[in-house]
Amino acid sequence: MQKFLDMISQDMMQAFEEAGYDPALGRVTVSNRPDLAEYQCNGAMAGAKKYHKAPFMIAGDVAKILQDKSSTFSQVDVVKPGFLNLKVSESFLKDYLQQMSGEDRFGMELPEKPTKIVLDYGGPNVAKPLHVGHLRSAVIGEAVKRICRYHGEEVIGDIHLGDWGLQMGLVITEVSKRNPDLPYFDPSFTGEYPAEAPFTVSELEEIYPFASAKSKEDPEYYAEAMEATHRLQSGDRGMRALWEKIIEVSVADMKKNYEKLNVSFDLWWGESTVNDTIPAMVDKMKEDGFAHESAGALVVDVAEETDSKELPPCMILKSDGAALYTTTDLATIWEREKQFAPDQMIYITDKRQELHFTQVFRCARKTGIIRPETELRHIGFGTMNGKDGKPFKTRAGGVMRLQTLIEDINTEMLGKIKSNEEIPEEEARDTAAKVALAALKYGDLSNQASKDYVFDLERFTSFEGDTGPYILYTIVRIKSILAKYADQGGEAVSASDLLPAAGKLEKSLMFDLAGFSAMMDGAYQDLAPHRICAYIYQLSNDFNSFYHATRILTEEDAARKKSWIALLELTEQVLLTCIHVLGFDSPERM
Ligand code: ARG
Repeated sequence: MQKFLDMISQDMMQAFEEAGYDPALGRVTVSNRPDLAEYQCNGAMAGAKKYHKAPFMIAGDVAKILQDKSSTFSQVDVVKPGFLNLKVSESFLKDYLQQMSGEDRFGMELPEKPTKIVLDYGGPNVAKPLHVGHLRSAVIGEAVKRICRYHGEEVIGDIHLGDWGLQMGLVITEVSKRNPDLPYFDPSFTGEYPAEAPFTVSELEEIYPFASAKSKEDPEYYAEAMEATHRLQSGDRGMRALWEKIIEVSVADMKKNYEKLNVSFDLWWGESTVNDTIPAMVDKMKEDGFAHESAGALVVDVAEETDSKELPPCMILKSDGAALYTTTDLATIWEREKQFAPDQMIYITDKRQELHFTQVFRCARKTGIIRPETELRHIGFGTMNGKDGKPFKTRAGGVMRLQTLIEDINTEMLGKIKSNEEIPEEEARDTAAKVALAALKYGDLSNQASKDYVFDLERFTSFEGDTGPYILYTIVRIKSILAKYADQGGEAVSASDLLPAAGKLEKSLMFDLAGFSAMMDGAYQDLAPHRICAYIYQLSNDFNSFYHATRILTEEDAARKKSWIALLELTEQVLLTCIHVLGFDSPERM
């Protein structure tokens, strides 16, 4: 189904053509003078030169045709020097909504052929607790995944676990200090290693920061951790077995946390997944003449003549032969290419990793480990700051753990929900969790991803303003009116009950709804969840204005009442679809 603006533009284009002008001039846009018109067309001005004619006359010719027979526009005014100011006919708008209600995805068209996308997001590190820096990647990534899927694309979401670096060696070293008798550290051990992990998650979370701090003060300890990392990466049986336990315990905990965030992955590949493919990739890069030695390390030059800033070479192996973050990323690209041959790979990380991805992408292209047509995109997001404008910290000044942050928001929300005493305890908890998630996600997603934003608990959890709870409050309000209508014995309605708008506020609401597919398509083109937020904020505002001005349930004209109920149902469906795509749900009441 055509987008609303395309459909009304088409009518205008036809009128230009009939009047003897280039139809391309008939593009319609939203009016920038909403006090005068709903839409406008500036084509007459653009055509003046070509046709050696005053724009006012061209506009007049076009207006005459439309005034005579258009069923799209109820009003066409020519304004000097040659603007066409337009109002859309209420019944045309109503027809459009009826049609979109009857179609899948409200009439948004599927692509001819889906784009196959590998989406790399989340990126947590094993054995390190999730912190708020990982929050944005998970929240934005999940929304981007759902936007692409809603748009009809095929998406494989991959978490790209950090499970292979020095942090593993640090944990292993510290475990060996605390429990030297474990069989993992006995080189002569040939039996089966214990099924149970020698630590719990909380122990693991304490072990890593401890070991990391210690390694910074104690060079010997650091050397031991490097050695353990090296042994792990070269396949030492005991190290591998212990490493598996670390992964097992850590991943189980991550899954719980992500579930709470409504975030899920199709693939749980990690940096370790490609360990065995690294040697072949490095050989290939050497044989093809791309990788060369530089100060003992192996590098690929990625600078280009047109660069305005100097781009350092991409390091493939350190001088001790160890692989790096870049190496595992490159090998992962190679592996994804072989297994999925995707059209695109999209990465969602902190924008401070931009240089890394520029190097990796250039290196991948240059060395031919991807097909030339595979598109590589990096979406870099800004920092989540505290109210002081500095990166968000705990009150004590430490790194805020994701779990703590979620608990804080939940507690705040629970307090608010419980002030409504009608809601029983268990429902209150469930509702608070839903609203808290909306507060957290909307607070993040409503900003353009590349920008830093301030995490403001009070603002994010407010039921008023541009917040997640406000959107949910609006949905809950609609649900409550629909429930009351049903209680009154109101008949079921459908989109065919819709009538042309009776007033201005109702018409604005209808315009918002008609703009759904254009908005969603735009959110996909730009991979921009904030566009959906802006849309539902406006939709909610327009709905609430309409609601405050309209006595829906006491309306005596039965047909009018049914029309409004149908309009409410459509508004509810559109809002629910949008929040689902953003990755949160609505409670029944709040
Ligand atoms: N583990 C990394 C970090 O914590 C993020 C991984 C992002 N994805 C990637 N393919 N490099 O910074």
